[in-house]
Amino acid sequence: MSPPKLLFAGADEYQAMFVEAAASLPDIDLVPYRPDVDLTGIEYLLMWRPVPGLPAALPKLKAVFCFGAGVERLLANPELPSHVPLVRMVEPGLTQGMTEYVLWQTLRHHRRIWELEEAQAEGRWAPHWYPAAWERQVGILGLGTLGQAAAAQLLEYGFPVRGWSRNRKELAGVKSFAGDGELPDFLRDLEILICLLPLTPETSGILNAVNFARLALGASLINVGRGGHLVEADLIPAIDSGQLQAASLDVFAQEPLPPGHPFWAHPRIFVTPHNASDTNPASGLREICRQIRRVEGGLPLEHVADRGRGY
Ligand code: NAP
Ligand code: GLV
Repeated sequence: MSPPKLLFAGADEYQAMFVEAAASLPDIDLVPYRPDVDLTGIEYLLMWRPVPGLPAALPKLKAVFCFGAGVERLLANPELPSHVPLVRMVEPGLTQGMTEYVLWQTLRHHRRIWELEEAQAEGRWAPHWYPAAWERQVGILGLGTLGQAAAAQLLEYGFPVRGWSRNRKELAGVKSFAGDGELPDFLRDLEILICLLPLTPETSGILNAVNFARLALGASLINVGRGGHLVEADLIPAIDSGQLQAASLDVFAQEPLPPGHPFWAHPRIFVTPHNASDTNPASGLREICRQIRRVEGGLPLEHVADRGRGY
């Protein structure tokens, strides 16, 4: 019997890498999407940005796999049939990339690396003081797959970690806060705030002046969730007033970040191109094959997005 066909309509720049990785996987027949491709018999779809007309042209579709962890764009697509499950990407490569980015940026803010870089640029020998990791209050908005992995990594480095989620978590070493009512207590006196939330109507704009004012004076922000979490107009005034000391931003309201946007040139804003973490072709496809085997074996899919919750 021929293997199930998986249509690759993920990020175009990754297509060749996925085709190569799929060549060694006997469980799937990966079909790269092109407007003129033969769609007969496609049962699974791997998708990132909505492609007009695509789910409708696939009458045998059994599941849509989101190319990333954040499903807000695909859930907002009215062309996604309500009976077809949408699966969030949960795979070790994506998790590894995010824990690396969060650790890298947390250390950047913890050690105020920019002061050393500025001193070097001016030829100044300027040692500076920094607290021990265990004296630094770090908090993660979102304690899901990625938030929990980041928390575990930061704990290993000695940072005390708080986390905020909808439902309270029992995670060794993590002080867990839950729900809107506990958000102010979660934020109080935090020195490094990391956003790893999905973008939903409830979380949109959560990184705003009111919440910045709840943090320790001179706190840092790391936004790796979505651009829509940040009220962009509130960030530079918060940094210029000293409420925040600096920010690392990987995601933006408009991507690519437009030329001339004030974030590009701000000395205390570190910009990365929505690249904190990407789905790894080999481990991502292995995970999709595992899920397809579940479906073909009559088992339920895992990590199915909940349309009511929005993630
Ligand atoms: P996940 O496993 O679904 O976790 C989401 C977490 O957010 C859960 O802990 C959830 O709480 C919490 N949450 C959702 N709505 C909430 C609300 N209204 N109040 C409080 N907590 C809320 O997602 P994930 O795999 O960790 O990914 C998280 C996000 O990271 C993605 O949605 C995406 O936006 C972003 N991301 C960015 C990149 C990048 O490169 N920048 C890469 C991957 C992912 P419960 O646990 O109680 O449900
Ligand atoms: C990337 O942004 C993702 O959601 O995986």
